[in-house]
Parts: sequence; C-alpha cells; structure tokens
Amino acid sequence: MQCRSSNDLIQFVTEAKSVIKNGKVADYIPALGRAKRDDFSIAIHYPDGNCISAGDIEKQFTLQSISKVISLALVLIDRGPDFVFERVGMEPTGDPFNSIAKLETMAPAKPLNPMINAGALVVTHMLKGNSVEERFSRLLTFIQELSNDPSVSYSTEVAYSEFETADLNRALCYFLKQHQIINEDVEQLLKLYTKQCAIEMNCLDLARIGMIFAMDGRDPLNGKQIIPIDIARICKTFMVTCGMYNSSGEFAIKVGIPAKSGVSGGIMGSVPGKFGIGIFGPALDEKGNSIAGIRLLELLSKNYNLSMF
Ligand code: DON
Repeated sequence: MQCRSSNDLIQFVTEAKSVIKNGKVADYIPALGRAKRDDFSIAIHYPDGNCISAGDIEKQFTLQSISKVISLALVLIDRGPDFVFERVGMEPTGDPFNSIAKLETMAPAKPLNPMINAGALVVTHMLKGNSVEERFSRLLTFIQELSNDPSVSYSTEVAYSEFETADLNRALCYFLKQHQIINEDVEQLLKLYTKQCAIEMNCLDLARIGMIFAMDGRDPLNGKQIIPIDIARICKTFMVTCGMYNSSGEFAIKVGIPAKSGVSGGIMGSVPGKFGIGIFGPALDEKGNSIAGIRLLELLSKNYNLSMF
C-alpha cells in the first residue's frame, strides 16, 4: 500500500526529534543495541485505506512488548476471558515492565496484568497449539491478517539474542512454574516468547494493526470482524491502563489514546473510531518507551484534540 508523505507530520516529527539526544537505545538484548538512535518515523492508517507518513516507513523493527497486546487478543479468542483472567490480573502495577517484586507479595502469585513481562509470559503460555512451532505460527498468521501483510515474519537474530540473555524472564517463568501458574517447560516457553517479541514489521503494518483495534476489531476494508468487539475493548483498556508501563498514567493525561510500546522503539496507537498509528524511534526514555515517539504523540494529541478523555 502507498502511504502519502504529509508536510504537517514532517513538521511534528522534526520538532519531536529534538528529544532524541536525551534517549538511549535498548541494549539489554544485544541485537537491539545495534539500532540507529536517530531513526524516527510514523505512519497513520485511516479506516478508508488512506495513509499518511513521515520518515523512513520501510524500516523494519521488532514488536517486543507491542506483541503482548496482540497475543492477548488471540489468547482471549482461544480461551475466553474467564479462563485467561483466572491466570492473569487486570490491574496496573506502577512497576517497571520486568519487575518481579509484586509477584512475591501476591497470593496466588498471579501476575497483575498481561502487559508486564510476568503477565505476558503467562499469556504466551496460554497460546493454543501442539508445539512451539504451531503456537508461533498461529500467532504469526493472526498478525499477518491484522496487518494485511503476509510477508510479516520474525528476526531470528533478535529472537536468539534475547533467548540467550533472558535470565530475568527465565527467573519469572520459574517463579510462575513453582506457583503452578504455568506448567510447561520453561525453555520452550521462552523460545516461543522471544520469537513472539522478535516479530518484525514496519510502521505502516503497525499503524494498520492499530487501526483494527481503533475500529473495534473489524477490518473496515473487507468487513471482517478479526477480533470480537468485547475482546478489542479489553485490549484497548489494557493499552490505556498499562500500555506504556509505569508511564501509563502520565501518558493518559498528556496524550489520552490507547497505545502500546516496545523496547525496540515501536509504539502502536489506536484513536478510537478514527485511525491507527505506527511509530518507530529506538531512542528510549528511562521507562523503556520511545522518547521522541511519546513527544510526537503529545504534539499530535494536542494539535488534533485526540484525547479520549
Ligand atoms: O521481555 C522483554 O524484555 C522484551 N522482549 C520485551 C520488553 C519490552 O518491549 C518492554 N517495553 N517497553
């Protein structure tokens, strides 16, 4: 699909870029450390198929935590909300995304929400299929349908790099297994989770997925309800309450749209009923969100009155 470059967007991108100098590329996953700090792009996808952009929107990046909201949608479709929320909660934590602290103080040791790593690992554990390959392939097919891009795949390099270094996530898994929240082999679950996080696409694909959530799970271009309305609503609510980790409150006040970030520097936004947003800017703030991406969303929200509150 063609995306038209927009002068207004280019202006906002130029302004937001000024904060990149205060950000840092994530390097706790070694392969992510090779990202170019100054990269910055955005695509906005409208329900009528129109798209506007600024920056190099062909650039591929991995979804990382953005994948958490999509795997949640698929698991909710697969298993239904009652099953899922017996195993993962609905409350924001106010803690960093990889924190183990609250797990220890909760009884049962069920993660507080599906957007922190502990909760996302439980969600990935619930993905249906007879093998890691089959479960991953179902998730990938779902993402290809949402993005309408059958070429979406994953970075073997980033997946392997995270798998090799994911000792904190391993610790979370072993804790969850000890408390019978999960019951599969930890290495198998990590293999699936790191492949999920390494699913790779560009801003345009991401904006299209954001648009499907914005349109209550329905693809307006072919009329198909890809995600049931109630499940799309649950996902968007988590995006508001936990999508930007322990910045979610400030983000809700300053931007006011459902959004999900990842440590690769991606942000997916869904402006309800209006459009989807895909941003890529790998320089991160101290909470792990794209620093210029957040600035850009603040500018867009203010100038176009996008807050839903
Ligand atoms: O589990 C991890 O650490 C990464 N694969 C994903 C973390 C992430 O993207 C957090 N986002 N801001």
